[in-house]
Parts: sequence; C-alpha cells; structure tokens
Amino acid sequence: MDKRERLDKIIASQGLASRSEVKAMVRRGEVEVNGDVVKDSGVKVSYSDNICINGAPLFQRKFTYIMLNKPTGVVSATNDKRDKTVVDILPEEFKRKNLFPAGRLDKDTTGFCLVTDDGDFAHRILSPARHVTKTYIAVLSRPIDYELGKKAFLDGVVLEDGTVLLSAILIQLEAGDKPVYKVVIKEGKYHQVRRMFASLGSHVEQLKRIAIGGLMLDEALEEGEARLLTEKELESIVENDERF
Ligand code: URA
Repeated sequence: MDKRERLDKIIASQGLASRSEVKAMVRRGEVEVNGDVVKDSGVKVSYSDNICINGAPLFQRKFTYIMLNKPTGVVSATNDKRDKTVVDILPEEFKRKNLFPAGRLDKDTTGFCLVTDDGDFAHRILSPARHVTKTYIAVLSRPIDYELGKKAFLDGVVLEDGTVLLSAILIQLEAGDKPVYKVVIKEGKYHQVRRMFASLGSHVEQLKRIAIGGLMLDEALEEGEARLLTEKELESIVENDERF
C-alpha cells in the first residue's frame, strides 16, 4: 500500500517550509510532481512520487529516520518469531530495507523509538561515551524516598550485579501511592530504568520514553503512529542535548 497525503503536508513534513510557504511555492509554479508542474497544493501524492522543488528532488536523503511512538506488546527488533516488531508496524510508505531500531525499549515500554537505516548515526546516539540523553516518564508501584533517590541517581546507581551507572537525573512529577517520575539517563543498559528504581526498592509499572537527546516525542503521534524526522529535528537530537 502506498499511502497518499496532501502535497503541502508531505513537503512541510520534510522540514523545508511551513504549510503556508509551501502553498505559496505551489501557486508560483515551483513544485513538480513526476515531471508536471502542479498548481493545487491539496493534490494527493505519495512518498514514492518524484516531487521536485525548483528542480531539486524533495527526497534526497541517503538514510531514513523515523520517529515511532511505540505501543506496548511490540518488540524493538527487526524480526521476531512470536511478536510484532517496531519495523513490522511502520506505515508501508516508510518501509525499506535495513531499517532497525536505534536502541532497545522493553516490550512493555512505550514512546519514542527511533527507527533508521543509518548505522553510524545510531552508534553516535547510543554510545555511552557520547552521552546523548534519553528521557523517560516512569509510574511506580510504590513511593520512594525522593531525596535519597535524587542523590543515588546523581551519584551513579550501583546495580545488583555491581555495574556502576553514569550520573542520572530524577525529578518527581507527581507524589502519592503511585508516584510519577521523570528520569534522564546517558546510557542504555538492559532494563536500566527499571533496575534503577528496583535499587530504590520500588517497581516501575509504566515506562514511556519521551525524548532522545534534545528531541521530544511529537505529542501529536498516537501510540503506533510514526513519521519521518525533519532535518532540523535530526540535528536537534545531538545539538540541543545540553541538559547535563
Ligand atoms: N529502561 C528500561 O528499564 N526499559 C526500557 O525500555 C528503557 C529503559
């Protein structure tokens, strides 16, 4: 299936111009679809159409970068015998060879999963040495001592197996029997956030990743929905990541 969208929406989604700027370009005859000048910015086109702006092809990226709002029950892998993978649930128009999730979210973790075919970029944002942050919202099964937790996270939690984690930030968003915390970490060890709260004697009931580096999950994306990242967004993952 090749999903069709409005021309102005597809062009704007690439981060080149706003919807109203695109409409003006179309009116001026600057946009061609499959070799023909189009004058209606509402015409339905697909990502496989050859769209040119002032003669330059719109899609000229070597690699693909997709923001997926991962639902629960889906595994962060490229194929799996039992479960659906993050690649399986992508819209058909984004599917291509060699896509993989840059980093793993647990099957029951939701939120920002970056799916790409750019191995170097994935390595850059995942390498603990690069310190690209990952931000999570965790709902706990029982309260923790917040002051103690803040300090433990900042000092670097020592897991049961002796692993010493890098410094992390803990921020309480809601108190109560099932408190809600924001956690910012700089690495991605197996079940890291769950194990960090386990070290404080609590249990994570719900976990959602809301940001990678300086890029927040788009709130307009429902669980299971995905969209391409714009050039600016891609850069902001690394460039705006100055929190600690
Ligand atoms: N930490 C976890 O424990 N699980 C995830 O899915 C991501 C980070």
